[in-house]
Amino acid sequence: MSTPPAEQRPVRILQLSDTHLLGGGRWHRDQVDTTAALERVLSHAASLAHVDAIVATGDLSDDGSVESYRTLRRMLEAVAAQWDCPVLATTGNHDDRPVFETVFGPADGVTDIRGLRIVRLSTTVAGRGYGALSGAQLDSLAEQLREPSRRGSMLALHHPPVPARTALLAALELLEPQSLWDRVTGTDLHTVVAGHFHHALVTTVGQVTVAVAPAVANSTDVTAPSDRERAVRGSGYAVIDIAANGIATVLPVRVPAPDDGVELFDLSPAEVARLADEYGLLGAQAALGAQAGPGAQAELGAQAGPAAGPSQ
Ligand SMILES: [Fe+2]
Repeated sequence: MSTPPAEQRPVRILQLSDTHLLGGGRWHRDQVDTTAALERVLSHAASLAHVDAIVATGDLSDDGSVESYRTLRRMLEAVAAQWDCPVLATTGNHDDRPVFETVFGPADGVTDIRGLRIVRLSTTVAGRGYGALSGAQLDSLAEQLREPSRRGSMLALHHPPVPARTALLAALELLEPQSLWDRVTGTDLHTVVAGHFHHALVTTVGQVTVAVAPAVANSTDVTAPSDRERAVRGSGYAVIDIAANGIATVLPVRVPAPDDGVELFDLSPAEVARLADEYGLLGAQAALGAQAGPGAQAELGAQAGPAAGPSQ
């Protein structure tokens, strides 16, 4: 079989999410050496013959330390060098966006990869577990999508703009996802890639494929009762191929380790309710209702304190 010309070859994205790295040699929840987990994931992914871009969708650091971001950048750039591809990263609820940006540059941005337009938007709301996009971010997205790109567009962000499967994650969703969907209707956006859930999920919203990558740090047990939050050991990543016609093929990859499936935590419904109350959407939705009008989301994003959040 002959090799297809490079232009017909799908654009291949290696997506990593929720690495939750820490500085000072510390471990995630004192249980998982996330730097070692990332090493395992990257050495597994290194066998891919070609990758056109590495996309990292938030919760890259767990503690927001500059050391954690420097470690991540060094590790990602080392593997990206073998494919001569860029690293495109944005921030999640555990990240400290200003510290991230001192190491990686802007968390929002747009990059053309062989005709595929990849837009990154940070959904970080400092001090909270839910995510939000400001009116200015949505305006900028609409502007970037105004003219079609040859291979269409992909949006990379941390909080998936689709419903979560557990009570805790439902409290930590993206605020008002419909405002995002309203702005991309009729554009060439065909794929959204996200993280945050710590489990793979692929669904569609209209014509758009929404793909959530497995986490590097741990795995949410999707078979647990939805009012609990249970996580086990296990790491993965996603390979996303975008064909010349814009069709996305999503390949979630599990990286095997000897202690896979061992329980890390199993939060009771009461603990879930407490975390949802402290970091979740309810207060934000009430405030948004009270403020109403454009810019309300941006104000909500601006008022919170330093990075914090529950497990995911
Ligand atoms: Fe996370």
